[in-house]
Amino acid sequence: MGNKTYYITTPIYYPSDNLHIGHAYTTVAADTMARFKRMKGYDVWFLTGSDEHGQKIERKAKEAGKEPLEYVDKIVANFKHLWKALHISNDDFIRTTEERHKKVVQAIFKKIYDQGDIYKSEYEGWYCTPCETFWLERQLKEGNCPDCGRPVELLKEESYFFRMSKYADRLLQHIEENPDFIQPETRRNEMISFIKQGLEDLCVSRTTFKWGIPVPIDQKHVIYVWFDALTNYISALGYGEDNSKFDKYWPADLHLVGKDIVRFHTIIWPAILMAAGIELPKKVFGHGWLLLEGGKMSKSKGNVVDPLVLIEKYGVDAVRYFLLREMPYGEDGYYSEDALIERINTDLANDFGNLVSRTTAMIEKFAEGVIPSPGQEEPVDRELIELAEQTPREVERQLERFDLSNALGAIWKLVNRTNKYIDETAPWALARDPAKRSRLNTVLYNLAEALRVVTVLCTPFMPTLPDKVWQQLGLQEFKDIHTWDSTMRWGGVPGGTKIQRGPAIFPRIETKEKGGEAGEAPSGKEEKRQQEKQKEFISIEEFSRLDLRIAEVLEAENVPKTDKLLKLKVKVGEEERTVVAGIAQYYRPEELIGKKVVVVANLQPAKIRGITSEGMILAAVGDEQLGVLTVEKDLPSGAKVR
Ligand code: MSP
Repeated sequence: MGNKTYYITTPIYYPSDNLHIGHAYTTVAADTMARFKRMKGYDVWFLTGSDEHGQKIERKAKEAGKEPLEYVDKIVANFKHLWKALHISNDDFIRTTEERHKKVVQAIFKKIYDQGDIYKSEYEGWYCTPCETFWLERQLKEGNCPDCGRPVELLKEESYFFRMSKYADRLLQHIEENPDFIQPETRRNEMISFIKQGLEDLCVSRTTFKWGIPVPIDQKHVIYVWFDALTNYISALGYGEDNSKFDKYWPADLHLVGKDIVRFHTIIWPAILMAAGIELPKKVFGHGWLLLEGGKMSKSKGNVVDPLVLIEKYGVDAVRYFLLREMPYGEDGYYSEDALIERINTDLANDFGNLVSRTTAMIEKFAEGVIPSPGQEEPVDRELIELAEQTPREVERQLERFDLSNALGAIWKLVNRTNKYIDETAPWALARDPAKRSRLNTVLYNLAEALRVVTVLCTPFMPTLPDKVWQQLGLQEFKDIHTWDSTMRWGGVPGGTKIQRGPAIFPRIETKEKGGEAGEAPSGKEEKRQQEKQKEFISIEEFSRLDLRIAEVLEAENVPKTDKLLKLKVKVGEEERTVVAGIAQYYRPEELIGKKVVVVANLQPAKIRGITSEGMILAAVGDEQLGVLTVEKDLPSGAKVR
């Protein structure tokens, strides 16, 4: 029985400039999907490549004083280097200057020409060279390219035309009958309305420059670069030559593209395929753009961010995590180095990294460095186990709809639940009581197992992460519990495994301290330090303005749609008040009822999530814990704290 196959492609990139972090998104996203499908047992074919012909490249080469091929060779080598650094697991890399590609493009052109769907005429109209796109007068935006806003050129030249208009009705029908063909929904709607405005025949050859694949029946012409480029998806499979790969993998399961090129992939490409009598791809997904705070990334603005520099500085897994987490489903996302550091410090160093270090530290300290076998299960364990069992399904559901950000969100819900489980079960307290040995064993086992599940689920997103975790947990050799399916069954980690603590998996990134900007004169720094110091003291009068009171918690409940907030009803003397406190990750509501806590009673009331909070609960905050302030003796509610 043959395996299920999965064919996924990225666009082929123009080697006109080096690639920036925005380009890297498409490839990292496709790679994550390819890795996920491989883990699910699919026979995956993952294709990327370079789109090397056209007027734009010819001009760039000329500017650089080079032959086009010489010019692109170097850039394509850089692409390949970048994909390696990003751990992209592509099965093939197609260059449109390769013979295997040119042959197929010419054969398809000839086939469509022979059946009368390509004819010779004259093109008179506009052209955007950076986008390599023909435009009608009515489509221009203030005289410029409607896609990129740059100036267009007026062309008048003999050209071959593809009868695209002939396929408009069939195409519309296909899109309407196959809701999955274009995703997300918004892009689908855009394409439907574009087609409904009427499709013109498409100019598919040029004569005013040379850098392209010659039209097979007329050597004066070169084939339009998009006709050439789109065909890569089947030329790379050897279409019409040796069809074995084509028969196995076509139609593609997913063409992943940026939103700017959805139109080429869902209108021009399917029309060419229909004319050539080839099945259409199953799905085209148009993702959003990664933008900079100030707008688009572009070489001309000099604001391109080099992914190699970021990988060098922060590591490949962190860069991949950021890209995949930060791009919301189908929409634009924003890049800034601060946002990247924030993700690293919060999600990776704090949430994930601490889970690894706390778990291994406790196994070392309380169980002689050996993952114990679990004992009796308690309700708090069940809650964790149930979430761990649901998470793989939820991650799969999100991945199937290509919502990579929410797939990571689902994994992080489990990471955070596991961190909370540590606080709830307090293993350090269990370790002090020999009678609680079995309970302690269960807790430590569950932590190791939850960490295993999380790590397996992270594998497609962060390919170098698992080895580091397996090493620390001593699980390198247990390959059968590294598989996707093994996450569906709780209890994979073998009890008795010796762990080996290691360095922090995601070290925190130290940011510049406030007031310590480089280049500042030492005297200025000193002055600032003194001022800061002054600020550290308050007078007794200032302190006495605070009205701190003992309050008894009468009721507590979670605030809906947040995982941080609790709504408490407290009694301060005779008065009852509502207080919203950000402690839900550390306390279950029922744990607080009856507790006598300390509140700031004269704090200006504030509305939080629609609830008026009349005071603030005081709590001590550590790196990994939070504890509300209580008093040692049983004092009545309303008692003043001084
Ligand atoms: N050569 C064409 C594709 C031909 S496919 C048959 C092309 N190349 S490109 O190099 O300009 O872009 C490649 C991919 O990178 C596109 O999917 C594009 O949307 C994507 N991105 C370019 N800049 C981007 C961001 N700032 N953010 C996210 N993706 C971006 O188009």
